Amino acid sequence: ARVFVPRDTTALAMGADEVADRLMSEAEARGIEIALTRNGSRGLAWLEPLVEVETDTGRMAYGPVSVEDVPGLLDAGLLEGATDHPLAQGLTESIPYLAGQQRLTFARIGVTDPLSLADYLAHDGFRGLETALTLDAQAIVDEVKTSGLRGRGGAAFPTGIKWQTVHDAPSDQKYIVCNADEGDSGTFADRLVMECDPYMLIEGMAIAGLAVGATQGYIYLRSEYPLAHRILDDAIARAEQAGYLGADIRGSGRRFDLEVRLGAGAYICGEETSLLESLEGKRGMVRYKPPLPAIEGLFGRPTVVNNVLSLAAIPYILARGGQAYADYGMGRSRGTLALQLAGNVKRGGLVELAFGTTLRTLMEDFGGGTFSERPLRAVQVGGPLCAYLPESQWDLPLDYETFAGVGAGVGHGGVVMFDDTVDMAEQARFSMEFCKVESCGKCTPCRIGSTRGVEVIDRILANQDRDANLELLDELCETMEDGSLCAMGGMTPFPVKSVMTHFPDDLQR
Ligand code: NAI
Ligand code: SF4
Repeated sequence: ARVFVPRDTTALAMGADEVADRLMSEAEARGIEIALTRNGSRGLAWLEPLVEVETDTGRMAYGPVSVEDVPGLLDAGLLEGATDHPLAQGLTESIPYLAGQQRLTFARIGVTDPLSLADYLAHDGFRGLETALTLDAQAIVDEVKTSGLRGRGGAAFPTGIKWQTVHDAPSDQKYIVCNADEGDSGTFADRLVMECDPYMLIEGMAIAGLAVGATQGYIYLRSEYPLAHRILDDAIARAEQAGYLGADIRGSGRRFDLEVRLGAGAYICGEETSLLESLEGKRGMVRYKPPLPAIEGLFGRPTVVNNVLSLAAIPYILARGGQAYADYGMGRSRGTLALQLAGNVKRGGLVELAFGTTLRTLMEDFGGGTFSERPLRAVQVGGPLCAYLPESQWDLPLDYETFAGVGAGVGHGGVVMFDDTVDMAEQARFSMEFCKVESCGKCTPCRIGSTRGVEVIDRILANQDRDANLELLDELCETMEDGSLCAMGGMTPFPVKSVMTHFPDDLQR
């Protein structure tokens, strides 16, 4: 029988290695042969470790499986795809959480063995790169423009236009830099790409290289992702050996080299210019823009800086055509969004959906409500620099423009849920404190403002000159928003103001 036990960080944290070991030792003791594949995760985090068994009708799922469950599962007929066990979830692809998604970027995660090139090729892998090799650079850029893809790191700048800028910038050396410093609270989609489908990122970066004329790529990876690091290094070496990277990609005479560089734990190094400073070996301080990295980026050369998810969307776009991607979504938000359900949620995990869905659908239909089973009260979408949304906003369609219209952000797609025990004043204070800790210190509104912000909120909570301090907080937010050099100081006011607007009672003590 062919059995799959995932090997991504979530599954490992939930004991996947121990489950795999027990499965093999039990099988041996019973004289049964098992062909074990360590696949990536399907992104259904609440079912991890999710064990799958291949049957004639498809893969059957069991989860969450603990070591102690293994003998009983084998007794119940796990290897025959038994359905009458409490952990049996039926056909994996029919689990509503998965069946209800539109997986374009994440179509392969959990299906394949992350490091198997044969598996990748058997599931449409490198089709985008093969197509790109037949096109001239401008035609590749045009395809990305047609797709309508916008930067998935959070800022939603049109990827095709960024590539065009780098394509048009004359230089003897250009770079592709992948921002894999995934730092937003509740986010893990970049990690899933890197741990579960690393060749997709490699393919996306190689295509970007062909499109703009860059021969060197760097993946700037946060040091907190050691497994992703090992998998990427291994995948890059294998891709090189198979001719998908290196001096002569698939005999085309085109070159693209790729390396991983580790960050050192600073949130601000996810900001593109401090990321570039860090890549150059300096302290991660934000640079003034202009010049844009697209014109003067790494080592002063034209550089594409794209998030993991933006680059991961590229192989699909080149393989199927930009229009196939643009057919999903709403308004100016085309394609799909990788939403990550976290916080106080019953069914946390990755939900890839076309733009236009609502938070309520996500949190209730997919997430199943709160883990605590208490009423939901607030949700923070897009990371620590984005707003908290009250129930009145849970039915808005999720797209960049609608969310911006209510002072909220889609960001990197992190959705962190809170039940009715949450103290929103504490959350507002946390936003300022986070900024205080993570500020690079270059500009005053952020460096000093965040410290003063914590103090002002403390005074409000201590009931000292409430009205005057609330007014001061409002003014401080305005100063930070208008006067900060980058999004760190410039967006910290968003969560704070959302608490003042939507949860004012919590600021009463
Ligand atoms: P930005 O709006 O300054 O820039 C967006 C991108 O477009 C940059 O790469 C910029 O260089 C590029 N760009 C702008 N004009 C261009 C032009 N004319 N030609 C070519 N390229 C051009 O936003 P920024 O500061 O890069 O990102 C802020 C966002 O980051 C926030 O919205 C926040 O949601 C998100 N964020 C994401 C985190 C994560 O972990 N993924 C963490 C923190 C913030
Ligand atoms: Fe640095 Fe904050 Fe200014 Fe950004 S806003 S440049 S993080 S001090």
